[in-house]
Amino acid sequence: MAKARIFSGVQPTGNLHLGNYLGAIELWLSLQNKYDCIFSVVDYHAITVSQEPRKLKESILAIAKIMLASGINPDQSVIFQQSALSAHTELAWILNCTAHMGELKKMTQFKEKSAGQKDIVSLGLFAYPVLMAADILLYQTEAVPVGEDQSQHVELARDLARRFNHQFGQTFTVPDLITRPDGARIMGLDDPRKKMSKSAASEYNYIALLDEPDKAAKKIMKAVTDSGQEIKFAPANKPAISNLLTIYSLLSGRTIARLEEEYQGRQYGALKKDLAEAVKIFLSDFQSRLNEITDAQARQVLSAGAAKIAPLAESTLRTAKERLGLTLNNHR
Ligand code: TYM
Repeated sequence: MAKARIFSGVQPTGNLHLGNYLGAIELWLSLQNKYDCIFSVVDYHAITVSQEPRKLKESILAIAKIMLASGINPDQSVIFQQSALSAHTELAWILNCTAHMGELKKMTQFKEKSAGQKDIVSLGLFAYPVLMAADILLYQTEAVPVGEDQSQHVELARDLARRFNHQFGQTFTVPDLITRPDGARIMGLDDPRKKMSKSAASEYNYIALLDEPDKAAKKIMKAVTDSGQEIKFAPANKPAISNLLTIYSLLSGRTIARLEEEYQGRQYGALKKDLAEAVKIFLSDFQSRLNEITDAQARQVLSAGAAKIAPLAESTLRTAKERLGLTLNNHR
C-alpha cells in the first residue's frame, strides 16, 4: 500500500537553530520511514523580506546540506528548492483569489513581522501563508510536521483546501497538522517567554547549528534561569529551567521525569554544565557530518528532488485550473 505523504519546509534565512532542528527537522527524521516525505527549501518565502542575493544563494545550499547532515535520506525522501517549480506560485495565485484579507490579517506571524513597518510591508509577506498553503496542497499532502508557530498557517491551508473543494469540487487533500508533544516550541535562552528565533536581536537567544561548539556551550552557561533552586519542569513558573530540561531531554533521549529525578537536590549550574557538554557533542558530530557534504552534492539532490515531484505538482495544478474553468481543449 502506498504510504501517506508529508510535506514541510524551511526558509533559507538567518541561522538555523536548535529550535528549528528539535521542533521540525528531528520530527521529520522520526517520520521518514513511515511516510513519503517532501522537504522544501522555501526560497520564495524568504524573499518576502529583503535578502542579499549572494547570501540567499549560499543559504539555499546550506539548508539542503543541513537537511542531509541531519539524516534526511535523499534516496528515500525528496529535498527540493521551492522556486524550481513554478506550480507553487501559480497555485498560490489561484488560492490568493479564494483567501480572505480578514483571515490573513489575523495571522500572528504577519502581525509580528510587520509590526512597526506600516504600509511599506510587502504584499508578499501578507500573502505568505497562502504560498505555504499552495506548497502543501500541490502534493495532496496528508500531514504537515512543523513547530507550533506554524500551526495557524497549516490551519489556513486546511480552510483554503476545504473552501476550494466545496466551491469547485474535490481537488485537494485536507492536510493534518503534526507537532511534537514536547519541543514544538523551544524558547529563547535569553528570554524564555519568547520562542527561539533566527531573527532574535541577541545571539544569546539561540544555539545556531553552525555555532562553534565551545561558543554554544558558553551560551548555555549564560542562559537566564528562574528564581528558586529546584530543577523542575513547570513552564508557567519556571519557563527557563523547563526550556533547558526540554532541550536536554531531546538531546539526551532521557525523559524529563528522569532528568528531574537525576538533578534532585542539585543546583541550576549542574544542569547547565551537563547540557552545555551535550550541546557541544551534538554540534561537533553534526558539523563533522555537514563538512563532508559538498555544494555539488547538495545541488544534485535539489535538482533530482524537483524533477521527481514536478509531475505531481503539475497534475494537481492542472486539476485546479480545470475545476476553475481555465483550461480550453485540454491544453494548459
Ligand atoms: P521556518 O523556516 O521559520 O522554520 C522551520 C521550522 O522550524 C520550526 N521552528 C521551531 N520549532 C520549535 N521551536 C522553535 N523555537 C522554532 N522556530 C522555528 C518551524 O515551526 C518550522 O516547522 N513558513 C515556514 C516554512 C514553510 C512551510 C511550508 C512549512 C513554507 N512552506 C509548507 C511547512 C509546510 C517557516 O517559515 O518555517
